[in-house]
Amino acid sequence: MKYALVTGGSRGIGRAICLKLAQMGCHVIINYNSGHDAAKETLQQIEAAGGTAELLPFNVANEEHMNEALDRWQSQNPDAYISILVNNAGIRRDTLAVFMSDEDWHDVMNTNLNGAFYLIRRLVKNMMTHRAGRIINIASVSGLKGQPGQLNYSAAKAAMIGATKSLAQEVGSRKITVNAVAPGFIATDMTEGLDEANLKKLIPAGRFGKPEEVAAVVGFLASDDAAYINGEVISVNGGLYS
Ligand code: NAI
Repeated sequence: MKYALVTGGSRGIGRAICLKLAQMGCHVIINYNSGHDAAKETLQQIEAAGGTAELLPFNVANEEHMNEALDRWQSQNPDAYISILVNNAGIRRDTLAVFMSDEDWHDVMNTNLNGAFYLIRRLVKNMMTHRAGRIINIASVSGLKGQPGQLNYSAAKAAMIGATKSLAQEVGSRKITVNAVAPGFIATDMTEGLDEANLKKLIPAGRFGKPEEVAAVVGFLASDDAAYINGEVISVNGGLYS
């Protein structure tokens, strides 16, 4: 059985990814920071569909917190190793650059970028030893084209894409692939409050995407069928930007 860790798996895109990977036969480790009830709901949905999963709360932006949780998990599962890592946890703190506080900048960098780095550094070693692994980073259209009001978020997601391409070249010879998925507007809590009626006029598909449409690509990248895809960024944006 493959063990898959999905950060920010309590809701939205992360929940859909957890469900997809469980449906593919993985044992899913559902990470979240707060929102215990939502994470439990993800777990229950997986179990109701006949899959297996467990909760592993920690703040991805806090390396000590992450290490404590993973040390505990490893001591309870001494023979297991995590072969699929999905860096999905993310936040946004949108405002124009001139109004952006240090806190807005650092919070977004710490969660969206540094959290992925801490997990990659910790988990890639074991993947290298086992000569198998999948790392999938959830980036954004904002990291590809930039977005006004998202200096912090666009910078974090663009950096994530650079890190994806770099790591792919470091570990490709060990049968590990590292790819990014760049969603456009997806209907989740993160996009609630946006002017959907106006924004969807910009999208050739004429609608926001569904979390399951992102999860489908993640599932493919995590599968054996995607063994020859490495260092790629796959957009899931209804044609918004290519
Ligand atoms: P969401 O706000 O619904 O869910 C975010 C998840 O991240 C939650 O489970 C939350 O608990 C978790 N999280 C936040 N901070 C955390 C931390 N410090 N440690 C651990 N977990 C933490 O967001 P959504 O829409 O599901 O987004 C998921 C990912 O997709 C994010 O990385 C986001 O940037 C990205 N994305 C989303 C788009 C959208 O339109 N919804 C578009 C492009 C990218």
